[in-house]
Amino acid sequence: MKAKIKLDKYINNCINISGSKNSSLPIICASILCDEIVILKNVPLISDVFLLINILKDIGYQLVLNKEDHTLTIYPSIINKKYFHNSKITKLRGSYYIIGCLIAKNNKSDFSFLHPGGCKLGTRPINYHINAFKNMGLDIKTNNKVIKVKGQIHECIHYLDYPSVGTTINIILASSKLEKESIIYNASIEPEVIDLCEFLKSMGVNITITNRIIKIKGNKYLSSTKYKIMEDRIEAGTFLILGALHQGITVNNINPSNLSFLTDLLISCGYKLKITSNSITLLPFKKEDILPFNITLEPHPGFPTDLGPLMCVLASQINGISYIKETVFKDRFSHIDELKKMNIDISLNNNTIIIKGISNVCNSQIKAQDLRCAASLLLSASISSELSTIENIDYLFRGYENIKYKLASLGIDFTI
Ligand code: UD1
Repeated sequence: MKAKIKLDKYINNCINISGSKNSSLPIICASILCDEIVILKNVPLISDVFLLINILKDIGYQLVLNKEDHTLTIYPSIINKKYFHNSKITKLRGSYYIIGCLIAKNNKSDFSFLHPGGCKLGTRPINYHINAFKNMGLDIKTNNKVIKVKGQIHECIHYLDYPSVGTTINIILASSKLEKESIIYNASIEPEVIDLCEFLKSMGVNITITNRIIKIKGNKYLSSTKYKIMEDRIEAGTFLILGALHQGITVNNINPSNLSFLTDLLISCGYKLKITSNSITLLPFKKEDILPFNITLEPHPGFPTDLGPLMCVLASQINGISYIKETVFKDRFSHIDELKKMNIDISLNNNTIIIKGISNVCNSQIKAQDLRCAASLLLSASISSELSTIENIDYLFRGYENIKYKLASLGIDFTI
């Protein structure tokens, strides 16, 4: 699918931020652990969420999405299946959270599950997940197509070599019905992991988090809950960066403390912000007052890798040289060649991206290679008043709700 993007006249406006993609995926999966009804609020209407709901429905779970009020109701079900070989699983990396839940639900596991898919950010192994499940007592056999899981789990102490988001989540999910305490050392503490923990706590799981240590004392019976999913801080970051490329913006329905990595940086660059308890306003500015930056993309509380490609576009509009070092994914650089086609002065030295501003961005035919690459191309296309065409724009719908309408309210035309 192709999108045509053109800036009419930028309107400094307010954007209501949707629910978080990276929270919804594990929380929707975790809902199948509940022994009573679960009601989720602030569910983002994005294609990754639709796909996950379809995968769970195909398995046999009962979920009802009310698009009017962003509410998802999940009814308790007992599923006795051995094979989870629906090809939709390979289209969504987050589908591997279903594995953690199946392990938690089954007293004795004996099933095979297709390998998950997801954005191509270089090789995306799942060895940390497999090792964690093995530590819990399971016999896991994998080839490049399926994961076979057999055995019974027990409580466990996990020492992660790397604070992997997905691995931390899968361990928490798998441990959530074990009554004895499991501990994760060097866990991921991304806000989305904390959001999942708060959700599980609301159903009766005991979880404590100190520094990078997460302790889980599960509960065999999980009770009904109504839970509001946190805001998408990456969507909020995307719009703040858009405002920093143009002449200001307000993002609403957010918790500013989840965005301090970005607000601190923007302030140090010279942008002026007004922060309330649930909004951030980036005020109009003079381009010549803004300074270049040097950031490292790393696990929370560091600067998130998901905003790296978008920060490249911002750097291209700041006078001077900016540096962005990627330490999370070995190969998250697909946006570089595409941004070059738009006349952005950008290069790669080992894992550090070097951007020289200010570039006079020109329109071009560009191709998204993954979700955040698509978002960065959208931002660069929004700078040009000429028409740009982005191929593979479908990626964008995986993580951005109602993007056409939100861009239109800022004076940016987005047509498919
Ligand atoms: C999650 C987010 C993604 C974000 C990333 C880092 C979701 C659905 N996705 O991805 O948007 O960019 O966190 O903040 O929440 N690794 C291994 N083996 C494993 C697992 C991971 O080598 O078994 C490596 C990865 O290749 C990567 C690094 O560890 O280099 C971090 O991955 P991880 O934190 O697990 O990210 P995801 O959970 O996949």
